Amino acid sequence: MRIAVIPGDGIGVEVTAEAMRAVRAAAGRSGRALDLETLPWGADHFLQTGVTIPADGYDRLRNFDAVFVGALGDPRIPDNRHARDILLGTRFELDLYVNYRPVKLLDERLCPLKGRMPADVNFVVFRENTEGVYVGIGGRFKPGTSDEIAIQEELNTYKGVHRIVKHAFDFAREHGKPSVCMADKSNAMAEGHALWQRVFRELAPQYPEIQARHLYIDALALLIVQDPSQFSVIVTNNLFGDIITDLGAALQGGLGLAASGNLHPGRTSMFEPVHGSAPPLAGKNAANPMGAMLSAALMLDYLGWRDEAAAIEEAVESAVRDRIGTTDIGGTLGTRETGDYIVNTIHSKSAATKPRKDETR
Ligand code: NAD
Ligand code: IPM
Ligand code: MN
Repeated sequence: MRIAVIPGDGIGVEVTAEAMRAVRAAAGRSGRALDLETLPWGADHFLQTGVTIPADGYDRLRNFDAVFVGALGDPRIPDNRHARDILLGTRFELDLYVNYRPVKLLDERLCPLKGRMPADVNFVVFRENTEGVYVGIGGRFKPGTSDEIAIQEELNTYKGVHRIVKHAFDFAREHGKPSVCMADKSNAMAEGHALWQRVFRELAPQYPEIQARHLYIDALALLIVQDPSQFSVIVTNNLFGDIITDLGAALQGGLGLAASGNLHPGRTSMFEPVHGSAPPLAGKNAANPMGAMLSAALMLDYLGWRDEAAAIEEAVESAVRDRIGTTDIGGTLGTRETGDYIVNTIHSKSAATKPRKDETR
């Protein structure tokens, strides 16, 4: 397997280092060959060269089996141009239309809602990842004047909406999930979101065993806090999915634990923690690398390396339960020390499952 690794900016660099150590440990235990190639794209590279992503950048990424990204964002680049080209550009150019963001509470102690147990917070969000307000269609007229007009269009296509809603229903069917909740704002955005309504009504009857539920996004934001246990699969547009998955991250213990995949099933896909570059945390060895590790586990699973993915997941889950990790999860370790601990767990589990020489005699 060949993986492109874009550590990016800020804590992205720190958490990626630990996540890739976990990946190497997991691959090592089954003796699988893995080639991790680091690409330097990010804020420093842009400030030094003026290049956000090289002209052949997306083609290069397509030639890897998967792409791993830390985080992008730097206060020295206030318009976020490099992040848009590298992160959003890759989502668009590789047509990674499924933003898969599982929300899973690993330990009740981490949930900010009182009395909620892991079984109550266990859902996945499918965020449309190639359309919506993210496409950058629009412009500014008379910028910088008191007559300034700013227009940012939202794009919704039948093809785009259909494929993400269908993916959510297919996922629910494959994984035995009871319901799919589609969230839009069709009461206010009567044109664009009428298309979401139409597609949802069209697809739902093809999945009679799955409860098809519609909520306006504001009501979803309310109910997800009041009672997250009613949700198993949520599908929504690009912007709403961005917002609701930070809320989901809060329910599972914070952004330090939230994982994601940007997928085009069957093609080269990109994996990244949900969090950003967290400039105030950067360089302090304080960021939680577990969201990045769990994203790496999603990547290995996507590549068919199920045991290796499970090894990372189990190591993270047991560390969280034992409160071993960074301060956001109640631990006392730094980023690197959390990495050491997870890597050791992965190694020791493999030693425990493989018979030692003297035991085989
Ligand atoms: P952020 O996710 O960087 O930080 C939000 C909050 O969560 C902060 O309090 C931060 O300290 C905390 N946090 C985030 N990751 C953490 C971790 N691993 N461990 C512990 N705490 C963690 O969001 P922001 O501050 O809005 O954005 C900072 C920069 O990151 C901006 O430039 C933004 O555009 C960018 N960003 C990038 C991505 C990405 O690359 N996928 C995602 C979100 C934001
Ligand atoms: C995310 C991030 C990005 C997004 C930003 C950095 C453009 O917040 O991946 O959730 O909005 O998609
Ligand atoms: Mn986000």
